[in-house]
Amino acid sequence: MPVDRCVCHFISFAALKAEAERQGPCATVESLSAATGAGTDCGTCVPYLRLVLKTGQTSFPVLPIVGREPPAR
Ligand code: FES
Repeated sequence: MPVDRCVCHFISFAALKAEAERQGPCATVESLSAATGAGTDCGTCVPYLRLVLKTGQTSFPVLPIVGREPPAR
Protein backbone atom coordinates (compact mmCIF):
# COMPACT_ATOMS: atom_id res chain seq x y z
CA MET A 1 0.00 0.00 0.00
CA PRO A 2 1.63 3.27 -1.05
CA VAL A 3 2.12 6.14 1.37
CA ASP A 4 0.50 9.26 -0.03
CA ARG A 5 -0.55 11.43 2.90
CA CYS A 6 -0.01 12.67 6.41
CA VAL A 7 -2.49 10.44 8.17
CA CYS A 8 -2.56 12.49 11.37
CA HIS A 9 -3.82 15.56 9.51
CA PHE A 10 -5.55 13.85 6.55
CA ILE A 11 -3.50 15.89 4.07
CA SER A 12 -2.36 14.26 0.84
CA PHE A 13 1.19 14.68 -0.39
CA ALA A 14 -0.35 16.05 -3.60
CA ALA A 15 -1.94 18.86 -1.56
CA LEU A 16 1.37 19.40 0.24
CA LYS A 17 3.18 19.57 -3.09
CA ALA A 18 0.70 22.21 -4.23
CA GLU A 19 1.36 24.15 -1.01
CA ALA A 20 5.12 23.86 -1.65
CA GLU A 21 4.63 25.22 -5.17
CA ARG A 22 2.56 28.09 -3.76
CA GLN A 23 5.38 28.87 -1.30
CA GLY A 24 8.01 28.73 -4.02
CA PRO A 25 11.66 27.69 -3.88
CA CYS A 26 11.96 28.60 -0.19
CA ALA A 27 9.48 25.86 0.82
CA THR A 28 10.80 23.54 3.52
CA VAL A 29 9.37 20.76 5.64
CA GLU A 30 9.06 23.31 8.42
CA SER A 31 7.18 25.82 6.26
CA LEU A 32 4.81 23.09 5.04
CA SER A 33 4.24 22.00 8.65
CA ALA A 34 3.57 25.58 9.73
CA ALA A 35 1.06 26.08 6.90
CA THR A 36 -0.77 22.75 7.13
CA GLY A 37 0.07 20.99 10.38
CA ALA A 38 1.50 18.02 8.46
CA GLY A 39 4.38 16.45 10.34
CA THR A 40 3.52 18.03 13.67
CA ASP A 41 2.04 15.01 15.41
CA CYS A 42 3.64 11.56 15.16
CA GLY A 43 6.25 12.77 12.64
CA THR A 44 6.11 9.61 10.56
CA CYS A 45 5.41 11.61 7.42
CA VAL A 46 8.40 13.95 7.79
CA PRO A 47 10.83 11.80 5.73
CA TYR A 48 8.14 11.59 3.05
CA LEU A 49 7.67 15.37 3.10
CA ARG A 50 11.40 15.72 2.45
CA LEU A 51 10.98 13.42 -0.56
CA VAL A 52 7.98 15.38 -1.84
CA LEU A 53 10.13 18.51 -1.80
CA LYS A 54 13.17 16.79 -3.28
CA THR A 55 11.51 14.69 -6.00
CA GLY A 56 8.04 16.11 -6.60
CA GLN A 57 6.61 12.63 -6.18
CA THR A 58 3.43 12.29 -4.13
CA SER A 59 3.24 8.53 -3.56
CA PHE A 60 5.95 6.32 -2.08
CA PRO A 61 6.62 2.80 -0.93
CA VAL A 62 6.92 2.42 2.82
CA LEU A 63 10.38 3.68 3.79
CA PRO A 64 12.59 1.61 6.05
CA ILE A 65 12.95 2.93 9.57
CA VAL A 66 16.47 4.28 9.98
CA GLY A 67 18.10 4.97 13.31
CA ARG A 68 15.68 3.04 15.44
CA GLU A 69 16.23 -0.32 17.00
CA PRO A 70 13.55 -2.91 16.41
CA PRO A 71 11.37 -3.57 19.44
CA ALA A 72 12.81 -6.08 21.93
CA ARG A 73 11.21 -9.51 21.86
S1 FES B 1 1.61 11.11 9.72
FE1 FES B 1 2.09 13.19 9.57
S2 FES B 1 2.28 13.83 11.65
FE2 FES B 1 1.67 11.76 11.78
